[in-house]
Amino acid sequence: MSWDHVWIDVNIATMDSKVAAPYGAITNAAIAVKNGQIAWLGPRSELPDFDVLATPVYRGYQKWLTPGLIDAHTHLVYAGNRANEFEMRLQGASYQDIANAGGGIISTVKACREADEAELFNLARKRLNALAKEGVTTVEIKSGYGLDTATELKMLRVARELGKHHHVEVQTTFLGAHAIAAEYKHNPDAYVDLVINDMLPAVMKENLADAVDVFCEGIAFNLEQTERVLQAAKRAGLPIKLHAEQLSNIGASELAAKLGALSVDHIEFLDEAGVKAISQSGTCAVLLPGAFYFLRETKLPPIDLLRQYQVPMVIASDINPGSSPICSTLLMLNMACTLFRLTPEEALKGVTINAAKALGIEHKVGSLAIGKQADFCLWDIHSPAELAYAYGVNPCEQVIKSGRIIQQ
Ligand code: NIG
Ligand code: FE
Repeated sequence: MSWDHVWIDVNIATMDSKVAAPYGAITNAAIAVKNGQIAWLGPRSELPDFDVLATPVYRGYQKWLTPGLIDAHTHLVYAGNRANEFEMRLQGASYQDIANAGGGIISTVKACREADEAELFNLARKRLNALAKEGVTTVEIKSGYGLDTATELKMLRVARELGKHHHVEVQTTFLGAHAIAAEYKHNPDAYVDLVINDMLPAVMKENLADAVDVFCEGIAFNLEQTERVLQAAKRAGLPIKLHAEQLSNIGASELAAKLGALSVDHIEFLDEAGVKAISQSGTCAVLLPGAFYFLRETKLPPIDLLRQYQVPMVIASDINPGSSPICSTLLMLNMACTLFRLTPEEALKGVTINAAKALGIEHKVGSLAIGKQADFCLWDIHSPAELAYAYGVNPCEQVIKSGRIIQQ
């Protein structure tokens, strides 16, 4: 056998459903990488002979190896911050009050329109570095703080640039329908026309988006407007997803299911009919405990129903300046367990294999199996549950991206 790198004496949480043990675990294992892919993995005792003199071999001392983490929902390209709104909320204003008074998303829009690409890039790179240090190897990044064609394109270009200059792989999502631009306050349908007829074609022309998202909510876009945007995205050949049922239930998830969306995200107010609908369409449920925590939401997403209907649950950070200014995917694992009562195994699935499903890239990443991309992390832990259990001392020791060892 001729391989590029081999790891021995590791325990592997493959997160592969074909491996029967919890976490798809193979203990006392080995893994070999060739040309950026996993060439072999299994019990160390079964490791085939290979050229030990020509191959770098890493000893894991029984530490754990997992797939590289995937953060499937972020808005990490933005300028400015909203600490003032944080203070207002602590004095009694609600997230909706602030949005309705022209703050919220719209205030970040002002900052993003003013910032140039270099400034946005440098701010976003710091956030991406923070995720990368915690073992994130794939991240989704949305636009949505431009709300005019030029700024939406600027945000997506920055996201694409980040992917080119960083080992973390970036999946971009066009979220022009994040809020109604102030200029269209009195004519929201005309703003939807702009998203469909001007922004989307420009985004497609530069190949800037891997998916399209809409914030379907009382303070954002109604069902009809949402459907128009999503239908246009589908006509353009892009997968779709929704910010749905975050602050109220207006049936966004049924719409998402009808249109075959990859995911519905937030979903605190999702009801059984909605869960049933998304279970039938194979749509993932993206849970965002950072936003739940930061907005001090009290309505829990319907975790038991999601389990009952076997909807894949995803955990993501939702990094953004308004509802989740928290740059840590590992902290989200802890919050998913403490706030939403997920098991550590469900939480870890939520940032690996299920996160890959939510991005439509599960054939390539999200679990460890022969033939998959060699994206994995070595953690200084004794059991995978520790990733969700403790927070503050970063246990990530080594990151491997497409077979390349990343020096942190
Ligand atoms: O995912 N819900 C809508 N969008 C973001 C928040 C955006 C903001 O407040 O800036 C979210 O929570
Ligand atoms: Fe979001």
